Amino acid sequence: MTLRTPEARRPKIVCLAGFMGSGKSTIGQLLARQTGRRFVDLDTRIEERAGISIRDFFERHGEAMFRALEEETLTQVVGECLEKGQPAVVALGGGTYAQARNQTALREQGAPVIWLECPVEELLSRCATITNRPLFRDEASFRELYQRRLPSYQLADYRVDSSREPRLVVAEILALDLFEQVTA
Ligand code: S3P
Repeated sequence: MTLRTPEARRPKIVCLAGFMGSGKSTIGQLLARQTGRRFVDLDTRIEERAGISIRDFFERHGEAMFRALEEETLTQVVGECLEKGQPAVVALGGGTYAQARNQTALREQGAPVIWLECPVEELLSRCATITNRPLFRDEASFRELYQRRLPSYQLADYRVDSSREPRLVVAEILALDLFEQVTA
């Protein structure tokens, strides 16, 4: 018999981290649907707060300001979910978990982080046709950024291979026993 975690001890917030194209939003939405949780896409929340797209924000204010806004928005999202007692799945942005302060904040709030690990070749092919990512300039810088971020992603609480089809990725995450209820 497998002992399941008591409901009260389950984390209210579960975060998905990973590089651009790793499937954070797709997997996050599916997970939220299957577990009856709220889904929060951090990038969407940032755009709502800023009133402009992330691409435009980068162009106008640069990356340092973006990281500050990202950190503030993450704090707001986490606070809001905990205050309302609303269990949520949060898809982080590709660089969110590479910032040490965000790692600390999530740890302090008891929000486990799942790294959606995916080979860089697959990430490249997934992102090649998408033009709205300010940090996807060319293949060489994409690969370099990926390598630079790996040590941060490796600090995540869990790691799941996200190069497979979403249904299988979700099944593996559900098997981690982090969620309360699961519907087919
Ligand atoms: C970023 C990834 C983007 C977005 C922003 C910065 C990054 O999120 O947060 O453009 O630093 O890798 P996605 O990974 O959802 O594209």
